[in-house]
Amino acid sequence: MPSSRHADVTVIGLGPMGRALAAAFLAAGVRTTVWNRTPGKDRDLVAAGAVVAATADEAVAASPLTVVCLVNYDATDSVLRQAPVTAALKGRTVVNLSADIPDRARDTGRWAAEHGVDYLDGAIMTPTTSIGTPAGVFLFSGPEALYGEHRAVLAALGGTHTHLGEEISRAAAYDIALLDIFWTSMAGYVHALAVARAEGISPTELAPFAQGIGAILPPLFQELAEDVESGTYSGEGNPITSGISTMAHVVHASEAHGIEANVMRAIEGLARRTVALGHGTEGYSRVAEVLGRR
Ligand SMILES: NC(=O)c1ccc[n+]([C@@H]2O[C@H](COP(=O)([O-])OP(=O)(O)OC[C@H]3O[C@@H](n4cnc5c(N)ncnc54)[C@H](OP(=O)(O)O)[C@@H]3O)[C@@H](O)[C@H]2O)c1
Repeated sequence: MPSSRHADVTVIGLGPMGRALAAAFLAAGVRTTVWNRTPGKDRDLVAAGAVVAATADEAVAASPLTVVCLVNYDATDSVLRQAPVTAALKGRTVVNLSADIPDRARDTGRWAAEHGVDYLDGAIMTPTTSIGTPAGVFLFSGPEALYGEHRAVLAALGGTHTHLGEEISRAAAYDIALLDIFWTSMAGYVHALAVARAEGISPTELAPFAQGIGAILPPLFQELAEDVESGTYSGEGNPITSGISTMAHVVHASEAHGIEANVMRAIEGLARRTVALGHGTEGYSRVAEVLGRR
C-alpha cells in the first residue's frame, strides 16, 4: 500500500472505466476522492470507502494527484478548464486517462503548462475488467520525473505500465494506432459472424475458428513491422495479387446474401491500387507505404 502524501488520489469521471479505476485505488488502500458530472454513480465506491466531493474543484483540491477518465477531451476541458478547478489544480498533478487524438493531448499539455498544472497524459488499452489485475495495460507520456513521482500510486491500478517518453502526445498516438487495429478487427469479426450465419453457421460454431485466425496474427504483426521498417515488402509465398482474389470472394459471398461489404470493398480497392502501382508481387505490408504516400 502506498504510504506518503502521494497515496491520496482523486478520480474525476465515474463511467465504467472511472469506477473501475477508483475501485482499484480503494482496493489498494489509497485514500480516494471521487467526482462525476452526474451524481449517483458512486454508491459502490462509497461503500468501499471513497470520499465524494460536492464539486470538481473540491475534488481536485483533496489530493496531490487527480486521475481524469472521461469520454473525450471536450469533456475533460469542460471540467478542468473551469476557473475554480484550474486554480485548485495549480501545483498539483493531473493524469488524463481519457481517450482522444494526439493534438488534444498536446493542447492539454500547453494549457497545463500555462496554468502551473503538472501534467501526464495516458491511455488504457484494456477493458474495465482488467483494472486492478495483472491484465491491465496502461500507457503514459510526459515528464519522466513527474511520472516517477506518481508511479507508485498509479501501480495500484495493476497491470503493465509503460512510460513512452516525455513527448506529451505519445500515449495518445499509440492509443490511436492500437484502436485502429482493435476496431477494424472488431468490424471484421462482426461482419464474419453475419456472413457465417447467412450460410447456416452459428456464431458459437465459428468462434473457435475465429480464435485460430486471431492466433496467426501476432507473428504476422512482427513480420510486417519489420518489412515496413526496413522497406523490404517481401511477397515471397504470399503476393498481394493472391490475396486480392480471396478479398473478392468475401465481397461476393456477402453481397449474395444481401450483407453489405463496404469495408472489404475498401480493403480490396486498396490492394488493387497497390497492384496498379506496380507492387503486385510484393507482400501486403506494401499497402502501409502506399497509404502513407502524399
Ligand atoms: N470502458 C472501457 O472498457 C475502456 C477501455 C479503455 C479505455 N477507455 C476510455 O476510458 C474513458 C472513459 O470510458 P468509460 O468506459 O468510463 O465511459 P465513457 O462513456 O467513455 O465516459 C463516461 C464518462 O464521461 C463523462 N462525460 C461524458 N460527457 C461529459 C461532459 N460533457 N462533461 C463531463 N463529463 C462527461 C461521463 O459523465 P456522466 O456520468 O455525467 O455522463 C462519465 O463520467 C474513455 O475515454 C474511453 O475511451 C474505456
